[in-house]
Amino acid sequence: MDQKSSKDRFVYKAWIGYQAIGDAALRKREAERFRWIASSDNDETVRAAVSELVTGIGSMFGADPQAEKHGLAENGIILGTFQQNDRLREICGDAAIRLGADGFVIRTSGAVTAIGAHTAAGVLYGAFHLLRLLAHGRASTDLDVIESPANGLRMINQWDNIDGSIERGYAGQSIFYRENAISFSLERIRDYARLLASVGLNAISINNVNVHKLESRFVTKEYLPQIAELASIFRVYGIKLFLSINFASPIEVGGLQTADPLDPEVRGWWRERAAEIYESIPDFGGFLVKADSENRPGPFTYDRNHADGANMLAEALELYGGVIIWRCFVYNCKQDWRDRSTDRARAAYDHFMPLDGAFKDNVILQIKNGPMDFQVREPVSPLLGAMKRTNQIIELQISQEYTGQQRHLCYLVPQWKSVLDFETFAKGQGEASPVRRIVDGSAYGRPYGGFAAVSNIGDDANWTGHPLAQANLYGYGRLAWNPQLSSEEIAEEWVMQTLGSDEAVVSNVCGMLMESLDIYESYTAPLGVGWMVSPNHHYGPSVDGYEYDKWGTYHFADRYGIGVDRTVKSGTGYTSQYFGGNAEVYESLDRCPDELLLFFHHVPYTHVLKSGNSVIQHIYNTHFEGADRAEKQAAAWRLLRNLVDEEMYAQVEARLLEQAEHAKEWRDTINTYFYRKSGIADELGRTIY
Ligand code: GCU
Repeated sequence: MDQKSSKDRFVYKAWIGYQAIGDAALRKREAERFRWIASSDNDETVRAAVSELVTGIGSMFGADPQAEKHGLAENGIILGTFQQNDRLREICGDAAIRLGADGFVIRTSGAVTAIGAHTAAGVLYGAFHLLRLLAHGRASTDLDVIESPANGLRMINQWDNIDGSIERGYAGQSIFYRENAISFSLERIRDYARLLASVGLNAISINNVNVHKLESRFVTKEYLPQIAELASIFRVYGIKLFLSINFASPIEVGGLQTADPLDPEVRGWWRERAAEIYESIPDFGGFLVKADSENRPGPFTYDRNHADGANMLAEALELYGGVIIWRCFVYNCKQDWRDRSTDRARAAYDHFMPLDGAFKDNVILQIKNGPMDFQVREPVSPLLGAMKRTNQIIELQISQEYTGQQRHLCYLVPQWKSVLDFETFAKGQGEASPVRRIVDGSAYGRPYGGFAAVSNIGDDANWTGHPLAQANLYGYGRLAWNPQLSSEEIAEEWVMQTLGSDEAVVSNVCGMLMESLDIYESYTAPLGVGWMVSPNHHYGPSVDGYEYDKWGTYHFADRYGIGVDRTVKSGTGYTSQYFGGNAEVYESLDRCPDELLLFFHHVPYTHVLKSGNSVIQHIYNTHFEGADRAEKQAAAWRLLRNLVDEEMYAQVEARLLEQAEHAKEWRDTINTYFYRKSGIADELGRTIY
């Protein structure tokens, strides 16, 4: 392991560093209360839970709990699966029937704290939960906690390439690959698995959705032994391994003439791959597929549709219980900017909605949260909830491609919360159908549901480049487990577990996190219009970067106004893809919420928003305020100089200073552009160039 990833560094331990609790009386009490950690289960996952408790309790309370394999006399934790353990059934048996898959019970009974679950993974989640409660001083002596995850699939997508690079990665190189080979430190992968499991994640795809030459061979015996090794590390932590595959592999790897999904030889080729994979990895999760998207091959080449493509692969895996996760990020990336009739926002719905009901039961569609591509502000994808007879999961991006690339602070949980809480009206007025119920599968009683998200980690010692970006990975997992948690609760959990419970630290850092998305949005693209970024790398302002280009991402600013008319009345008709109430609100210039106005309407700069400001004045105000607020974040952090780990302090400070400078760049570029376009001066006479 390289110097950078040294295990002992504070920034590396992230939220499972189990900070020592300061209160001496409490330390003594808890050390006495947890003298033993007992489990009779031999399962490797339960053993991992035991060892986590030993480490965590030892470190928080300066205690030395002993792991033991049989009954437990008193003063300690007993954990395991109900099947293996009479005592656990006695203490928590009545709650067991209420537990969903992966759920757990934590209950105190006299001097014993019991953690019981139906599955070994449930036991592990229970152990991590108890550690969380302990870190927060909430592990009372009369605990009775029953938790089950809302979502079955809680997945992380690595966009890592075998050359060691990470597509849209902002925290160093891959921890899985180096120099065109699978190459990893067991310890680092294990620590990643611990981080993921600690927040309840249970699936990982280990290679980029853009599957290049060598990665296309991952499904062959050449790479399977090493992939099986990775799978066995993740397995201990209850995490299933998936691979992204190349739809054209039958040609590129198998030497066939075609990859046509209806061709018997092609079907046979994939069946053989499945057989080999399951021989090496009996609990292999399945394939993640990006097809007919951004120059990737897919069924369209053969005049087949996406159901043909997905079902062919699903058939190969179904015998083994595997699933196909098929991405809906399909659009024409070669649009001519002069073509005003094509609207990229429509694409996912237009492609997939007609296929509702045509997919096999082990196919799951993965739908990006918005119709475009992870912008700081977009409406919710209208495809979420539209397909009633199809499994669907939501795709989020933890990696901050368009949200500051982990150089700017941007806590994304509030954005995800607003998506999850969005009422789709998919079930009419009578029954609530927010996005969270669409994606957990409950709205339509689907067998599969869940979350997937693009990871934000790399081999930087602090995992995420910006240490505070760890909160996004943490928050993603917590939301996938329980989408009803609030952004504030999650922020506080993360801060207390990572930085400790000092009041000033908790309040300043939580405040910074909670404000950060709004600040970032203020000094970047206004009112939902999106995309004013430098092409390709997507960092920094470039108002016209994509304006006269393909890729379908336009704002149509001219001397009179700005915005994309997506109405039925006079625009692209995109608003009609939403259910009743939402379609009406977005269609109406008066009712459309300010923050999405320019996504749905083209308006003059003088158009007055609900806030009372004109569009142009709003642009000026938010950009001046946003840059000021970014500067204040750095000041808030400076107050913590002696209260947090030195390295952590310095890394965050450096990023915040860079952000404050860069926010000014954004402010001036955007304000100047619109001042020159519109010729309208700032009412407050501030400096615009
Ligand atoms: C974005 C991103 C690409 C990525 C793509 C995807 O367009 O910029 O790097 O491949 O999303 O989600 O497939």
